[in-house]
Amino acid sequence: MPQKICVIGAGPSGITAAKNLLDEGLGVVVYDLGSEVGGNWVFNEKAGHSSVFETTHIISSKTLSEYADFPMPSTYPDYPSHKHLAKYFQDYAAQFNLYKHIQFNTLVKNCELINDHQWKVTIEKNGKEEQHFFDALVVSNGHHWLPRMPKYKGSFNGEFIHSHDVKRFSRFTNKRVLVIGGGNSACDVAVESSRVAQSVDMSWRRGYWIVPKFMMGKPADVFSTKLHWLPRRIWQTISAFSLYLRNGKNTAYGLPEPEGPLGSHHPTINEDLFFTIRHGKINPRTDIAELNGNEVIFTDGTKGEYDIIVACTGYIISHPFFEKSFIDYSEGEVPLWLKMMHPEINNLYFIGLFQPLGCIWPGSELQSKIMARELAGKWKRPSNIKQLIKEELTNPDFKQINTPRHTITVDFHRFKKRLLKQLSK
Ligand SMILES: Cc1cc2nc3c(=O)[nH]c(=O)nc-3n(C[C@H](O)[C@H](O)[C@H](O)COP(=O)(O)OP(=O)(O)OC[C@H]3O[C@@H](n4cnc5c(N)ncnc54)[C@H](O)[C@@H]3O)c2cc1C
Ligand SMILES: NC(=O)c1ccc[n+]([C@@H]2O[C@H](COP(=O)([O-])OP(=O)(O)OC[C@H]3O[C@@H](n4cnc5c(N)ncnc54)[C@H](OP(=O)(O)O)[C@@H]3O)[C@@H](O)[C@H]2O)c1
Repeated sequence: MPQKICVIGAGPSGITAAKNLLDEGLGVVVYDLGSEVGGNWVFNEKAGHSSVFETTHIISSKTLSEYADFPMPSTYPDYPSHKHLAKYFQDYAAQFNLYKHIQFNTLVKNCELINDHQWKVTIEKNGKEEQHFFDALVVSNGHHWLPRMPKYKGSFNGEFIHSHDVKRFSRFTNKRVLVIGGGNSACDVAVESSRVAQSVDMSWRRGYWIVPKFMMGKPADVFSTKLHWLPRRIWQTISAFSLYLRNGKNTAYGLPEPEGPLGSHHPTINEDLFFTIRHGKINPRTDIAELNGNEVIFTDGTKGEYDIIVACTGYIISHPFFEKSFIDYSEGEVPLWLKMMHPEINNLYFIGLFQPLGCIWPGSELQSKIMARELAGKWKRPSNIKQLIKEELTNPDFKQINTPRHTITVDFHRFKKRLLKQLSK
């Protein structure tokens, strides 16, 4: 009997999981709560799973953001839009006949390991619950959908939203906007809202590296890849110097300097932030000390009045279909080997549960190939997996600042190399 495998999610990670399992002749059922393939890249006017904005373009270039088994169309630009990406994922699903294996509008509510080897999966479809049994479980539910909201002293009288709920920027027309954070969402929201808002302020609690999308006419990640063979410290120093030549220092824009070398936090890729600040359309602020009606008091003692605050403060890793006492990766270390294999449960895989300095799904594709080969009996996991997890956690690719978002970081190239090494065995 071929094995029957459950995949949670038909986003970029789930579809490559399904494709590679099917390639090995395994039985696959994919459940997705949405109605199309593409996960976060399926732009949706309404609040739901997807977090992309109407203006989102990918931040890694197309050559480093494609599945090895399915190149991006040559007509796509260097940095495709969310519409290009959604079509790319849907074309992938069509090309590899995945649609007939996907059940849309189906929520996975609960997953329970029974008799130590079988998964009992409870789904909800059309308001009705059903239970199904599987030989293995693949978790690819994404990690950028559950907002992390900051808490402050005092209260705010205006709108206080998270970037997850920002869809179109017309909602900021003529508003006094305060954006919190220095990540990719924060910079996009600040720049895009500044085109229509009355004013935009941006609050950073520390300094961040801002990397442009192009260096010497090449996509920044392509430029960086050429230097990747260098020892880490030298790569960091040369990259920092080239960024200095391009942008100068953060302080030239009224922003704090980064606390550590490049890679010490998830990189913020933005071509327009510095430009927009120097055109007087975004006003940098320090961290928030207190809220008071429509007023915000900052840690440097200055104040501002706002109609809307947008917390671009990232996402919490969440697996709501597991009992918290069983699996809870919402904070702290995530003890999985190659960011995918559980130390004790052999028929449970996490695909895409890593944050690369680069694109996610080429790594998800390689993880999926390892998983599929293991389930097909063509590859065997090492017996010292607990020790390997320990080593992975104590030797991260980058030593990062200790903030909640930095628990699953990998270096795109090094991570791929580690996965490819397993595949060559
Ligand atoms: C604004 C924004 C821009 C981004 N830009 C980039 C970028 O440029 N490059 C990059 O690499 N990454 C980017 N990301 C990260 C993004 O999460 C990944 O690109 C990618 O979508 C991850 O794919 P995934 O399949 O792992 O997860 P997701 O895309 O989140 O897909 C998960 C799927 O699982 C389904 N699902 C979840 N829970 C359940 C459940 N309980 N039952 C059934 N179905 C479920 C969802 O409906 C969804 O279809 C961005 C994220 C955001 C928010
Ligand atoms: N393609 C695109 O254009 C695009 C757009 C948006 C997002 N993305 C991707 O989507 C993912 C999520 O990005 P994101 O920007 O939403 O989240 P993120 O990377 O987690 O960034 C969150 C930001 O908020 C700050 N922050 C968190 N809690 C805070 C608090 N309590 N007070 C003040 N600041 C706080 C963080 O700083 P600390 O480090 O100090 O905590 C960080 O600057 C990333 O992978 C990103 O690359 C891509």
